Amino acid sequence: MILEALHFTAALATSSRRKPGEIAGSVGLWSRARRCRKAWGPHEENCQAFVEEKVGQLVDRRSVAVLGSGLLHEVPLEFLAKSFQKVTLYDLVHLPSARMKVRRLGRDNVRLVERDLSGGLGFLMDDGAPDLVVSACLLSQMALNAPEPAAVVRGHLADLLGGPWMPCLITDTAYEIRNRKGEVVATRDLLGGEPPPPAFRAWDWTVAPYGEAARETETVHRVIAV
Ligand SMILES: C[S@@+](CC[C@H](N)C(=O)[O-])C[C@H]1O[C@@H](n2cnc3c(N)ncnc32)[C@H](O)[C@@H]1O
Repeated sequence: MILEALHFTAALATSSRRKPGEIAGSVGLWSRARRCRKAWGPHEENCQAFVEEKVGQLVDRRSVAVLGSGLLHEVPLEFLAKSFQKVTLYDLVHLPSARMKVRRLGRDNVRLVERDLSGGLGFLMDDGAPDLVVSACLLSQMALNAPEPAAVVRGHLADLLGGPWMPCLITDTAYEIRNRKGEVVATRDLLGGEPPPPAFRAWDWTVAPYGEAARETETVHRVIAV
């Protein structure tokens, strides 16, 4: 609790948006990621490997934009900073822990931008289109908070997959709550009823292992990489 309170206070002081609700959400994510480090590890490795695979397919590596960069657990930050001339990280909030991670790289080609991404991706063209745009487990979160989740999902997919860049979409699409016998006791779609695009890779992510959200159930998200 004390660590969370300190992180919240420091984040409020360094944030350009200074929105307490958004910062509290990010601190909650940071705290959950610490508690669930072991359960989230394979998912984070899969995400990083997929981003590296995408970079391997690129000829031009001037600029990359990461959308929903958050805690920087799902993106291979050092690899991106070495591979591209310019790396721009976008999220509602960049916590001090993420800022430190960027500072520790000791490179001046990584920029952090706090911005609401639910209004579309047209702004990416302002500085010239990036060569690669990575949407890193952002889509379901935007949908969750939107009054019209399906519209946000449709808009993000159209912008990301239709832009003049190589798209890299990683998103959870649905979750299952399972009991200790492995039986599914509940399911939920996370894309507002919109069909997910065909995936190159897919895996399960145990977002809440037993004991995190409930003692007798775990919550497992389905993740796709496009
Ligand atoms: C599951 S987390 C992603 C974690 C991150 N990719 C990482 O590597 O640690 C979802 C992120 O989406 C961000 N987010 C949610 N809604 C957003 C919005 N409307 N605009 C920008 N970022 C948003 C949250 O702040 C959070 O950092």
